[in-house]
Amino acid sequence: MRNFVFHNPTKIIFGKNTIPGIGAETAALARKVLLVYGSGSIKANGIHRAVTASLAAAGVSWVEHGGVRSNPVLSHVHEGISLAVREKVDAVLAVGGGSVIDAAKAICAGAPADCDVWQFLRGKKGIRAALPLLCVLTLAASGSEMNGGMVITNEATRQKFGTHSGLLYPRVSILDPEATYSVPPDYSAWGAVDAISHVLEFYFTARESDVEVQNRLMEGLIAAIMAACDRVLADPRDYQGRAELMWGATLALNGLTGAGLGMVGFPMHMIEHSLSALYDVPHGAGLAVVVPGWLRWHAQQEPAKVARLGRMVFGLDEGALPVTATATIDHLRRWFAAGGCPTSLSQLGIGAADIPAIADNALGLARVWRLKEYSKERIVEILQHCQ
Ligand code: NZQ
Ligand code: ZN
Repeated sequence: MRNFVFHNPTKIIFGKNTIPGIGAETAALARKVLLVYGSGSIKANGIHRAVTASLAAAGVSWVEHGGVRSNPVLSHVHEGISLAVREKVDAVLAVGGGSVIDAAKAICAGAPADCDVWQFLRGKKGIRAALPLLCVLTLAASGSEMNGGMVITNEATRQKFGTHSGLLYPRVSILDPEATYSVPPDYSAWGAVDAISHVLEFYFTARESDVEVQNRLMEGLIAAIMAACDRVLADPRDYQGRAELMWGATLALNGLTGAGLGMVGFPMHMIEHSLSALYDVPHGAGLAVVVPGWLRWHAQQEPAKVARLGRMVFGLDEGALPVTATATIDHLRRWFAAGGCPTSLSQLGIGAADIPAIADNALGLARVWRLKEYSKERIVEILQHCQ
């Protein structure tokens, strides 16, 4: 294990009928909030009514900033920042999935800033202040409800960049699994792929190899998220399945899995964000294509850890490491496909001729994330494994 500091300040309120508590939690932090949400699912499933009734009962006033798109864009964040400043809100309340929470984080960081919030995302400036953020999570996927990360697309430059700050952790996040009953099968599966990918990024890029506790934690989390996703796809109103998937996705990117690993990278995400930036591919769907391709490339250099994943999580052991590694990747890819996910660039309507431009786009984020070993040639090679 390498030295580490694990400090996660987010208060999680988990379980059935927890959403009515959001008013009191907000009143403890603010008198007036910016209520940020997406394209309307919370109005259709009753969560908007429950949240606003709770805010009103707690004497908290709110201004609404709806319309956050999946793969949230900078122009809409700018509108939210102007609204937050004009209305002098003293906190932001995000009600939605990762896109809504990330847009809300960008507004929290942008409202007090003396520069464009995009400067933070391109790694040119550090975040010095942020409005307090509260969340009501409605989709199990990104882990944004319990971390300091945010990912925003600049439509003008066609770049989707992410950054992290200790100031962006939500103060409070309410996770009611029943809020996810209305998530359709595709986003349920894509959310599970996203959460599993968060674990795999650390599992395979960890500098420290003597980390048995962390390896077993990550292997167990992957297995449990897969099992929970299978339950939810079989029965969308399986409360325990939704609960396991929700908490598993939160644990997958709240800092716990990365403890003691030393430096880790996010190369699969670095590449996937270009698919979302250039083609508006849903994040989890893009990962279902990129992860198997990256693993095939990675297994050529280091088959042992890929084979370990297969042995520990899928019970595979085909003898020689490269053979087990290949069987592991095929098993994971079949599970993605069984959940209805695309598993090739061609299924996304992306052809081999597009690969150089995707690689050029991904290089921008590779530089911001200091993934110096990812040259254009390497990214092209990985994308060729994704066709
Ligand atoms: O627009 P709304 O009404 O919110 O509808 C959404 C959207 O259409 C819908 N949805 C959400 N909850 C629902 C629901 N539909 C019915 N019932 C519900 N309860 O689902 C669609 C997708 O929502 P979105 O928020 O885009 O999905 P997700 O949670 O997967 O978030 C994806 C975003 O998270 C970012 C990704 O880049 C992407 O932009 N990520 C954020 C990270 C972080 N902050 O740590 C890390 C991740 O790796 C990821 O990059
Ligand atoms: Zn992700």
